[in-house]
Amino acid sequence: MRLIHSVTELRAALAGEAKTAFVPTMGNLHAGHIALVEQARAVGRPVVASIFVNPLQFGAGEDFQRYPRTLEADCERLEAAGCDIVFAPDANEMYPEPQTFHVQPPLADELCGAFRPGHFSGVATVVLKLFNMVRPATAIFGKKDYQQLFILKGLARQFNLPIRILEAETTRAADGLALSSRNGYLSAAEREEAPRLIRLLREAAARVAAGERDFTDIERAAGVELAAHGWRVDYFSARDQATLLPPTPESHELVILAAAHLGGTRLIDNIEVCVN
Ligand code: PAJ
Repeated sequence: MRLIHSVTELRAALAGEAKTAFVPTMGNLHAGHIALVEQARAVGRPVVASIFVNPLQFGAGEDFQRYPRTLEADCERLEAAGCDIVFAPDANEMYPEPQTFHVQPPLADELCGAFRPGHFSGVATVVLKLFNMVRPATAIFGKKDYQQLFILKGLARQFNLPIRILEAETTRAADGLALSSRNGYLSAAEREEAPRLIRLLREAAARVAAGERDFTDIERAAGVELAAHGWRVDYFSARDQATLLPPTPESHELVILAAAHLGGTRLIDNIEVCVN
């Protein structure tokens, strides 16, 4: 496995490759990231993983400074998983010019975007740059970040990028908590409380699957329950999978998405549910 920091060296290493499979990350890798790398190995070679904590997608007062940076351990895990190239540029390599173009995706002000202004613009911008640097045939993203996946599928489609976007199921701890680099911020007591989020999403999905259509009531009940256990809820919201907008009477494939703060940690999760 090669560790590469510059775009020039990356380009040279990937010259002539037509089946590159790419997994973009911000590092501090866990089993969820590794599952994406394994999926990448099944669809193309070489497998490239990027590690870049992207300042553009963090807002003022968010965790950019304290985001865990664990390059050495990440490289060991990636090598063991069969990754061929790790691309880890620094901020000057990614953004060499002081004035930068920004991609403005649709839906960037909905759900997480309503609470993290500029976040999805930062994500779409860095992923477009990474795509142009790596020029992969396939790129793989996790459903854990459902809105991000939705926006990046739109990016590839609307900018006519010749890249197949694959999605990976969410990897969870035994108690259901979605794996996340941010779980490391949780205290022992918060870690025990954290799976309530997926439990409530599963309960809400069961109510929807059983035919309930009063989404407002389902969303409110979950919000009340979370608040009662010390969470600060950003949103708990049923949406149409195809649009990520509130469901219409014609919506059959739904997804319920949630974001809430537990102490100083913001957790997100979601669950898909189909109805007749
Ligand atoms: P990061 O949070 O490191 O996640 C990298 C990829 O791993 C994303 O596609 C994310 O959805 C996926 N992932 C994270 N946790 C997962 C889990 N428990 N199960 C399955 N997949 C999981 O998402 C980002 O980085 C950044 O926004 C990025 C796309 C790299 C742009 O900076």
